[in-house]
Amino acid sequence: MASVILRNLTKTFDGAARPALRELSLEVRDGELLVLLGPSGCGKTTALRCIAGLDEATEGEIHIGERDVTRLPPAERDVAMVFQNYALYPHLTVRENIAFALEVRRVPRKEILRRVSEAAQRLGLAELLERRPAQLSGGQRQRVALGRAIVRAPQAFLFDEPLSNLEAPLRSELRSEILKLHRALGATMIYVTHDQVEAMTMGQRIAVLYEGRLRQVGTPAEVYARPADVFVARFVGSPGMNVLHGRGRPVEEGGSVIECGSLTVPVALEHYEGEIELGVRPEHVTLSPPEKGLGSAEILIVEPHGPETLVHLDAGGQTLVARLPGLLEVRVGDRVGVKLDKRHFHFFDASGARLA
Ligand SMILES: Nc1ncnc2c1ncn2[C@@H]1O[C@H](COP(=O)(O)OP(=O)(O)OP(=O)(O)O)[C@@H](O)[C@H]1O
Ligand SMILES: [Mg+2]
Repeated sequence: MASVILRNLTKTFDGAARPALRELSLEVRDGELLVLLGPSGCGKTTALRCIAGLDEATEGEIHIGERDVTRLPPAERDVAMVFQNYALYPHLTVRENIAFALEVRRVPRKEILRRVSEAAQRLGLAELLERRPAQLSGGQRQRVALGRAIVRAPQAFLFDEPLSNLEAPLRSELRSEILKLHRALGATMIYVTHDQVEAMTMGQRIAVLYEGRLRQVGTPAEVYARPADVFVARFVGSPGMNVLHGRGRPVEEGGSVIECGSLTVPVALEHYEGEIELGVRPEHVTLSPPEKGLGSAEILIVEPHGPETLVHLDAGGQTLVARLPGLLEVRVGDRVGVKLDKRHFHFFDASGARLA
């Protein structure tokens, strides 16, 4: 296994007005599982294809272990990619699909048999080795694709949304399966997803990509607790962070208040004057009688989830969500007071960047 290092990786497709990836610098440590997270079109697949050598980097460098692979053809990079749509050979059996890359590399017959049967055991495919892909379920097909990658014992694994075609319970089963593989193989893995829950649960670290740019890298806890900008704040968390647009003004007693919609929020910022974005997660919003809060709001939507209820609020034109425990006796149209836990405030400037 090896580290994967990207330095100022930029990819502009022929004829494209803007680069799909812009100066992406990222170091994936040897044996690390790093999740590349971002919305559709942000450049996730492009990044993986550049690492695998399926697309050529326009600028920048890619290193795998000690080797600069930037200009090497895919076959010499020694990485295995697993795709969303499985990409199995339909006319080959499961056994032949898994063995294919080893046959091409002229690995001795005995060794192929050994590796294929070990992978099949590991992935619960031992009974299915003589079937063809058309005779498998989606989950089984993706296991075959995983098997095909692990028999190669590559320097790094690249996963491009491998579970997004599967239904939720199967997805979570295969998610644990991949985590198990990661632990057992001590493998370097880059796992692409647009699903922030998947990112939070799988990644040792998460790299958040938006519009081809890296916005933040950190452990799931770091990214959740201290998002680098408004985009990351809103994207990570379900639902994401509330970001209220407001205007700060200093107050005589010290500190400042921020007026956002109908809310007047005292904050510890010294003498803040001007526009500001105030971030607060739904779990740090509570309801009170209308006269007791920082201001009043109207209930727009009530979403009972069983153990918790999400209440969407309109506070004088600023919308926010409260996550409250249990099932609540509130109704759409009710007026309530809003309280915010000031120990968990985040401040961003007008451009969306985090203020210290
Ligand atoms: N072969 C190509 N030629 C031109 N533009 C491309 C090509 N492949 C991707 N793009 C563009 O590059 C950008 C990034 O695409 P990419 O496929 O990397 O996004 P993604 O993050 O993987 O999205 P998704 O979550 O939808 O898979 C998009 O704007 C896309 O339209
Ligand atoms: Mg993609």
